[in-house]
Amino acid sequence: MLGGGGREHAIVKALARSPQNPRLFCAPGNPGIAADATCLPGIDPSDVPAVVEAALENGIDLVAVGPEAPLVAGAVDALTEAGIRAFGPTREAARLEGSKTFAKEAMREVGIPTASFTVLGDRDEALDRVSRASYPLVLKADGLAAGKGVLICPTEAEAGEAVEVFFTERRFGKTEVVLEEFLDGEELSLVAICDGEVAIPLAPAQDYKRIGDGDTGPNTGGMGSYSPVATVSDRDLAELSATVHQPIVDLMARRGHPFHGILYAGLMMTASGPKVLEYNTRFGDPETQAVLPRLRSDLVELFTAACQPGGLAGLASGPAAESGRQLIEFSPEWAVTVVLASAGYPASSSKGDPIEGLAAAAETAEVIHAGTAEHEGGVVTAGGRVLNLTGLGPDAAAARQRAYDAAEAIQFEGKQMRSDIADRAVERAGQDRYK
Ligand code: AMP
Ligand code: GLY
Repeated sequence: MLGGGGREHAIVKALARSPQNPRLFCAPGNPGIAADATCLPGIDPSDVPAVVEAALENGIDLVAVGPEAPLVAGAVDALTEAGIRAFGPTREAARLEGSKTFAKEAMREVGIPTASFTVLGDRDEALDRVSRASYPLVLKADGLAAGKGVLICPTEAEAGEAVEVFFTERRFGKTEVVLEEFLDGEELSLVAICDGEVAIPLAPAQDYKRIGDGDTGPNTGGMGSYSPVATVSDRDLAELSATVHQPIVDLMARRGHPFHGILYAGLMMTASGPKVLEYNTRFGDPETQAVLPRLRSDLVELFTAACQPGGLAGLASGPAAESGRQLIEFSPEWAVTVVLASAGYPASSSKGDPIEGLAAAAETAEVIHAGTAEHEGGVVTAGGRVLNLTGLGPDAAAARQRAYDAAEAIQFEGKQMRSDIADRAVERAGQDRYK
């Protein structure tokens, strides 16, 4: 496993549950991951030659990539070239995440519903466009910006300021900028596992991006999540995936760059139907921390199959299908993930504060390490998002209770969390017939 955050801890936990009893390594890993995997703390997952060398040295059969940076750096290409099976898209296929222009043009080519857009090449063109646009509108940096490269502009004045941020201040580097129609609705994250030919959806999740309760304050890497999500039923899920994932997999195959790995669709459920906000080419963080604890299938088997062209289709028609088992099965339970962040996050982040209460928290929830370190035999904070607590339960309220009981049990200096994660799911519980 490449990576060392909460998402990677959740993936490692799911891999560790495989009946194949895999021997797991994680580069760099973290103190939580160390319970299930041998951590290789000296290795930067984006240092591709170092990753290949470590994989060869440790006799690794399968490498799964957590974060986007190693994908965009070509980790999968280099591992494959070295004869090591790697789960994730090639550098070319990862452009779906690495370049918003690439993704928008791909969507346009195959007719996937998304916000209408234009690519702005320079400041003059941008100023001209914003003076003729309708509001609100959205301006986005083309390249990777850790979720921070999106500016939502309610008025022309704000759009004018945003143009300066992109083209004069160059806050996101020398990048193209996408101007997009503003979409209104509730967001949904839906990932599919892809084998170059087919895309099979996992369970849907919702993510909380703002730091403050009631979706206020600045954007973060994500302050919580829950799964499933009542805005989409199991039946609609297959149809939704056929609309937002499969055409992209087909397109990439036609282009000679088959998509293997996880294709993440960030969706806006608008009044006129679901529309794609963005693609990522890896699991979501913190959605994965709510989705994978519900997974009943063997993740090692799924990852391995997805590395082969058509491998998932092969699994689907193999012994699993004969026994009547679904290819990808989820527990009907709900999962709620509460993120604990360090003081000052997201503007700054504090490090080295001792963490208390980990054992007590583990009695009610899965304790997932996101930014922790070991110091003098104890666990301390190591940055922005520190821990993720995932509660499981028969309904959203029970899952939320467990997550918050665990969140309350943890103490560290300056601990921050939202208090409204999954409230929406709990409120809806009476009305929805989600199955
Ligand atoms: P992205 O990186 O493109 O997913 O954008 C990050 C976040 O900005 C999304 O999760 C949305 O909350 C918001 N956002 C992006 N594009 C739009 C849009 N066209 N309309 C409304 N909100 C958007
Ligand atoms: N949770 C959004 C992302 O992983 O990009």
